[in-house]
Amino acid sequence: MTNKLLSSSNSRCKMLLKRLHYAFKVFLFIFMFLLLSMFIPLLRNTFLYPVWPKPWRHIGTVDLLMMEFFTEGPQNVASLNQCPAIVSPNVSQSDPRLLNIQTYDEISEDRIRYGEHKHFLPLLNEEKKRRLVQTYLVLSDALNRRGVQFFLRAGTLIGVLRHRGLIPWDDDMDIAIHVKDWMTVREVLSCIEGYVLKVDPIMHWKFFVNTSWYPFIDIFFYTGNDEYVWAITDYTRRTMVLEISHVFPLSTGVFEGIEVPTPKDTEIILRKQYDLDTCVSRSSNHETSQPLPEVDLPCSSLFYLYDMFHVNYVE
Ligand SMILES: *[C@@H]1O[C@H](CO)[C@@H](O)[C@H](O)[C@H]1NC(C)=O
Ligand SMILES: *[C@@H]1O[C@H](CO)[C@@H](O)[C@H](O)[C@H]1NC(C)=O
Repeated sequence: MTNKLLSSSNSRCKMLLKRLHYAFKVFLFIFMFLLLSMFIPLLRNTFLYPVWPKPWRHIGTVDLLMMEFFTEGPQNVASLNQCPAIVSPNVSQSDPRLLNIQTYDEISEDRIRYGEHKHFLPLLNEEKKRRLVQTYLVLSDALNRRGVQFFLRAGTLIGVLRHRGLIPWDDDMDIAIHVKDWMTVREVLSCIEGYVLKVDPIMHWKFFVNTSWYPFIDIFFYTGNDEYVWAITDYTRRTMVLEISHVFPLSTGVFEGIEVPTPKDTEIILRKQYDLDTCVSRSSNHETSQPLPEVDLPCSSLFYLYDMFHVNYVE
């Protein structure tokens, strides 16, 4: 009797083990398949399409692993930096380069045709926009004088291509600098009368007027190998892994009437990362840090408000 019971529970146990074994094999197969497909870009980009960041589709997995695990920023970036002398900024409010700033005074809430378009109203008033561009000129003159190369990136670069200036519903500027220049950048930008450089060990720095930190210029640093440059700051790496052959030698574009340094193939770089025909509203207000509802629209639905370039008409 006991023997019989034992043997039946024994065989049930065996059956369970067999099933577990089978499930494990299936799991192992799927796991191996996914692991293998990670290294075959065509498979990787197909199977992981929904979760794989768009700018990573063109980059080998081995390179991405290198970037992720072997990217190190400099140490002690915030250590005290004595200015040998405070220098004057050399860019005044009446600088002729500030004469061509685009203003959107006539675009206000009562002009919009649909409620959701209110997320695309101009964000900076003329005074703040002028301050932003003046701050940029101070930064660019100072860096150029010391031979530090930089270029515009992300939303600011979209602005160059699509709006020939700031994206109207945006409020900051993003620039990229090679990390080898971080000490020079700190030294140069910390010592300008009336301006502040805020340094941060994660290598996302900000430059602004001493009387108001808003609006500001965002400074990101990159490193690179023979083929790519990528951001030191990890949360920026999804939008900043660029093929060197598309970046250098740098080119120039027009931003609010001034000449600005851009990557060599701005449009190629941007199309690999973004859908330029879709206009995306801000996810937060930089002045109040308040999160905002993110709204996507075909840019062509905003043609009645703004002139845009390089945009396809979408129904
Ligand atoms: C402004 O010009 C002076 C004289 O040419 C120069 O010494 C100084 O470094 C300049 N300031 C900046 C921020 O480049
Ligand atoms: C900002 O800089 C100017 C020029 O150096 C100075 O006169 C002023 O006191 C500074 N303001 C603040 C709030 O630090």
